Amino acid sequence: MKKRIVILVSGNGSNAQAIIDQCRNDYINGEVVALISNRPNAYALVRAEQSNIATQCIDHTKYAERHLFDNALASCITKLQPDLIVLAGFMRILTTDFVAQFEGKMLNIHPSLLPKYPGLNTHQRAIESGDTNHGASVHFVTSELDGGPVVLKSQIKIREADTPNELAERVAKTEWKIYPEVVRWFCEDRLQWINGAVYFDNKMLQSNGMVYDEI
Ligand code: GAR
Repeated sequence: MKKRIVILVSGNGSNAQAIIDQCRNDYINGEVVALISNRPNAYALVRAEQSNIATQCIDHTKYAERHLFDNALASCITKLQPDLIVLAGFMRILTTDFVAQFEGKMLNIHPSLLPKYPGLNTHQRAIESGDTNHGASVHFVTSELDGGPVVLKSQIKIREADTPNELAERVAKTEWKIYPEVVRWFCEDRLQWINGAVYFDNKMLQSNGMVYDEI
């Protein structure tokens, strides 16, 4: 049976699009049952509508406190009965209570080689630190910001003349490959979360995950 996927977004939605497309192509044994945005003007909402996917907007500015927004979001997600929740450019910090409700079935993508550069401005930070490599990481979500166990990373070389925007563009192209790949594994039960440990093809993964090297 196809896994039920709910995607959470805040903006452009290019990663959401990649996952929607790969579900439609049957590359992923899953169905995106809804896309939820915390921002009413997120372009990802347009993308989902164009793909006939149900959308919801839960505007965080309408909630006086973080936990009230998280409660509304959690109850919306629970009704959708997802097997997997995919954070795709969802730019809200989630409360510990929220994360605990969906432990082991929530993935995120972050534009850095975690554990380097959690948080914002990752491309600029990598350039300023003189790094030679950069990339993106798909990881399970835990209550630690951008700190859950990594499943798969993409890795590219930083060029001497790279600006943060140029680097962001090249990293984004790798994100559209690694994120659908990890979602595919999850939907085929090749990727499993068992008591806080991550298993891929029944082998326990190290917390810094695997590197995708065919990009
Ligand atoms: C992506 O680069 C993703 O890695 C990043 O936001 C972008 C969303 O792009 N996520 C984070 O920074 C989360 N900490 P998209 O809306 O086009 O998929």
